[in-house]
Amino acid sequence: MTSLLIRGGTIVRPTGDERADILMNEGIIGEIFVRTTGPQKLLAADQTIEANGQLLFPGFIDCHVHFREPGLEQKGTMETESQSAIAGGVTTVCEMPNTNPPTVSIAALREKVRIAEGISTCDIRFFFGVTQSENLQELRRLWTEQEYSSLRDRCCGVKLYIDHSTGNQKAAKGVVEEAFRVCAELKIPLVVHCEDPVLNARAAKLNMHTEIAAHSLIRAPESEQRAITSAIESAKETGAQLHIAHLSTKRGLELVGQAKKDGLPITCEVAPHHLFLSTEDYETLGTLGKINPPLRTPDHCEALWAGIESGTIDCVASDHAPHTFEEKQVMPALTAPSGVPGVETMIPLLLTVAAGRWPHPRRRSFQPKLMYADIRRLCFDRPNEIFALKRPMIESAAKANLALVEPEAEWEIHGADLHSKCGWTPYEGWKITGKATVVGGW
Ligand code: NCD
Ligand code: ZN
Repeated sequence: MTSLLIRGGTIVRPTGDERADILMNEGIIGEIFVRTTGPQKLLAADQTIEANGQLLFPGFIDCHVHFREPGLEQKGTMETESQSAIAGGVTTVCEMPNTNPPTVSIAALREKVRIAEGISTCDIRFFFGVTQSENLQELRRLWTEQEYSSLRDRCCGVKLYIDHSTGNQKAAKGVVEEAFRVCAELKIPLVVHCEDPVLNARAAKLNMHTEIAAHSLIRAPESEQRAITSAIESAKETGAQLHIAHLSTKRGLELVGQAKKDGLPITCEVAPHHLFLSTEDYETLGTLGKINPPLRTPDHCEALWAGIESGTIDCVASDHAPHTFEEKQVMPALTAPSGVPGVETMIPLLLTVAAGRWPHPRRRSFQPKLMYADIRRLCFDRPNEIFALKRPMIESAAKANLALVEPEAEWEIHGADLHSKCGWTPYEGWKITGKATVVGGW
């Protein structure tokens, strides 16, 4: 029997920090001895980690990633991208359906679940995609028929694209409304990529620019706002549990804030690139900074940080979307694929802010506030609740699945050191304070 003792770490809990010794046996948490001022109990195990001054979190959850398998293995595989997740303290991911074939059928979901069974390091859940009416019939079978119960357990919700993005999964006419109705009826979390196809198409047609910064003009803030307004309206009419993916605008945030005040079951996530990068970064990033929704002006970033502070934003999720470096360099610039990797750098970037530093080489006029407990809420508790993932907390008899954080560790981000198959990062050379290491299996 192998036992492990983590001695003297501080468990970051929603209810407050707790200094404790944690004893584990065969990957299961045995007892948690909370430190009091009195004499310490003498504990022994086969292996001991001295965790004085370190923080303990449940293994982090990233509820929005693209791991590219099957079909797009030149960009990444479940194996390589899971390694990247683990190296960034993330032990659970929710993976998107824009693979090849897309995850719009039970057979495609089954194939992904089969591949994921070979990955022992990371708990990979899958979103079901809906582009056509037939997909909703499949979804209904998946959700209601007994024979699919184990597959259903691996499916965390439905993903709907209002406009095309990488993978061309825009829902067909009429399917959006139907998807809201079916998800409401079957009580399935519905994640929506909110950008308006009419506004985007019109702006693309009128666009005369060729440089990459035009991407932010073509997919303008109004496009996201209009799509969010309409999604909230549909959620109101149908009662669907709506989750807005990668919210990126000030007005979008206000709309979600108002919907929450109105008591609607609406939640949202923001992506690290919308918190840390802005249109000012196109100059250094070029096409590497092309993503959907696009980079926004700095006032939007500031508003998103305020949304984190106020609690309107439920989750931070990476939208990890690796493309090869060569694919991203294609010309003309506006034809480069959209998406940046981020599953490995998300927690380190947030830890840096919690340590009171700003990782971007260029200074900001504002200093966002973030506590370690906020990181736990944004990247564990809220995604765990919203997508009913049932991932273990740090408690007796739970599976040991922890992220041990050295809050003072200093290092630099370099694409060549990261584990994603794509080998590059939009945060090249950034200085980080804080390192997360995974302890235990998933
Ligand atoms: C994503 C991708 O590359 O898969 N790209 C992106 O810019 N976010 C697709 C998506 O989710 O929009
Ligand atoms: Zn995405």
